[in-house]
Amino acid sequence: MDIPKPIIKLRQAREEAMLGGGQKRIDEQHAKGKLTARERIELLVDTDSFEEFDLFVQHQCTNFGMEKYKHSGDGVVTGSATINERLVYIFAQDFTVFGGSLSKTYAEKICKVMDMALKNGCPLIGLNDSGGARIQEGVDALAGYAEIFWRNVMSSGVIPQISAILGPCAGGAVYSPAITDFVIMDKKSSYMFVTGPKVVKTVLNETVSTEDLGGASVHASKSGVAHFVSNSEEEAILIVKKLLSYLPSNNMEDPPYYPTHDPINRMCEELNDLVPDNANKPYDMLDLINCIVDDGEFLQVATSFAQNILVGFARMNGHPVGIVANQPKVLAGVLDINASIKGARFVRFCDSFNIPLIVLEDVPGFLPGTSQEHGGIIRNGAKLLYAFAEATVPKITVIVRKAYGGAYCVMNSRHMRADLVYAWPTAEIAVMGPKGAVEVIFRKEAMASEDPKKTLLEREEEYREKFANPFNAAERGYIDDIIEPARTRFRLIRALEMLANKQDSIPPRKHGNIPL
Ligand code: HXC
Repeated sequence: MDIPKPIIKLRQAREEAMLGGGQKRIDEQHAKGKLTARERIELLVDTDSFEEFDLFVQHQCTNFGMEKYKHSGDGVVTGSATINERLVYIFAQDFTVFGGSLSKTYAEKICKVMDMALKNGCPLIGLNDSGGARIQEGVDALAGYAEIFWRNVMSSGVIPQISAILGPCAGGAVYSPAITDFVIMDKKSSYMFVTGPKVVKTVLNETVSTEDLGGASVHASKSGVAHFVSNSEEEAILIVKKLLSYLPSNNMEDPPYYPTHDPINRMCEELNDLVPDNANKPYDMLDLINCIVDDGEFLQVATSFAQNILVGFARMNGHPVGIVANQPKVLAGVLDINASIKGARFVRFCDSFNIPLIVLEDVPGFLPGTSQEHGGIIRNGAKLLYAFAEATVPKITVIVRKAYGGAYCVMNSRHMRADLVYAWPTAEIAVMGPKGAVEVIFRKEAMASEDPKKTLLEREEEYREKFANPFNAAERGYIDDIIEPARTRFRLIRALEMLANKQDSIPPRKHGNIPL
C-alpha cells in the first residue's frame, strides 16, 4: 500500500529536523569529541521515553539576512522523558545550529518545558552547550534569557533543577545554571564565564586562558560554581541520574525510598578507635560517613571546594539523607567563609526538598585572621547558622569530637532546634579549646606563680577534665545521649524513624532576609 503524501512529507520534515544544523556540523561536533544534543538525551533517558516538543519551531529573525538560514528546532531540543521511570523535563542546547546560541523562539521553547516541569512537579534538566545570546537577535535574545531566569527563580525550591555544562556557557548564559540547584561541568569540553579571555585582556590587560578563567577545575575548586566535575559527557549524564535518585520530584513529595540489604543494626566496630587520643591529631571524617551509611555509598557534593566541610547525599535504611560534616583532615575542620557558604546552600537545598539532615561535628571554631574578617566571615558564617535555624526537616547532630565556641551553636545545636543531638564519648564541648581558654582566664594567676608554665599546664589539665567531655552538656539536656561510636548507624536510623512524621513550621512571612 502506498504511503499517503502528507505522511511522507511529515517523515521527511522530521528526518531533516533531526539533523539540527546538518550532517557537516554534526561531524564537526563529533570531531571535537562532543556528542550532539540528541545523543546526550538518548544517554540520559529511559529507552524510547523521550517525547519531543516544538521540533518544527524556527526563528523569526530577519536581521542580517537571517531569514535565509533557518533550521527546524532552532538550536535547542526540548521535551519530556523518564529517567529510571520517573518523569523529567529536559532541554538540550544544540551547538550545530548557530553555535547553540539563544534566539527568541529558542528561549520560548525552553520556557515551555520549564512551565510544564513546574506545573507537573517534575525535575528540570538542562544540557548546556551554547555560544550565548544570538547576536543577530539583539534585545529579543536578552528578553529570552530574562524569561528563563525568572522561571528558574520561580521553580527554585519547588522542583529540582540540574544543569550539565557540556560546552561553552558564556555571558548571561551562566546565570540560568547558577540559579539551578546543581551544576555539573565536563572537564574536557566545558567552560563558564561572564566575560571571556578577550574582554579580560581588553579591559584589564590580563592574559588568561579559557581553561584558567572558567574551566571545570576552576569552578569546582575556586569559585564554587560547579558542584560536580566529570571526565566525560557520559560521566556527566551518570551524575545527573545518580543525583536524581536521591531527590523527590518536587517539594511536596518525599525523597525516593530504595530498599537496602544493609542491616540497620550493623555495628561499625572500627569507629570506636576512629578518634585519636591526641585532640590535635586529624582523622578522615569520610571514614565515619562511609561506615554508617547504606552500603558505604556517599554522593559527595562540591568535593574540591571548601574541603574542610563535607556535604552530600546518602541513604539510611533506604531513605535519602543529607550529610553535613566537618572534615578534621583539612584545616582541622575549621569553619571559614567558603565552608559556611557551602554548608548553608546544601542545608537549604535539603530543607526545600524534605531531605532529613545529619550533622557530624568536629569543629574547633571559626577561622581567625584579617582575610577572613575582611572577607566577611561574620556575614557568611551567619548564613550557615541561618540555614540550620530555619530548616524544618528532621535534624540530627552527632558531636564526634570538638564543638567549640560559636561553631558549637551554629552546627545544628539543640538551641538551633536540632531534633536530636548525640555525642560520642570523645566529644569536647566548650567555649574554646583548653590552651586558649587557660591563657585567657589564668594568665594573671600563672604569671604571679613561681612556675607560670607549670601552673598553666595544671590549669589546662583541670579545664580539659571539666570540659573536654560530653557530660557537662548531657547533664543539662543539651545532648540527648552519649552513644558508643560503633552503634552510630543504628542510633541514627532509629532517630530518623522517630522523626519520620515530623511536622514543623516557621512563622509566616514573605521571606526571611538571610545575610547574603
Ligand atoms: C550567533 C553564533 C554565536 C552567537 C557562535 N555563533 N556564537 N551565532 N550568536 N552568540 C555561530 C558562529 O558564528 C559560527 O557560525 C557557529 O556558531 C559556530 O561558532 P564557532 O565560533 O565557529 O565555534 P567555536 O570555534 O567552537 O567557538 C565557539 C564560541 C564562539 C567560543 C562559543 O562561537 C564565540 O565566542 N561565540 C560568541 C560568544 C559570545 O560572546 N556570546 C555572546 C555573549 S553575551 P558559522 O556559520 O560562522 O560557522 C550574552 C549576553 C546575554 O550572551 C546576557 C543575558 C543576560
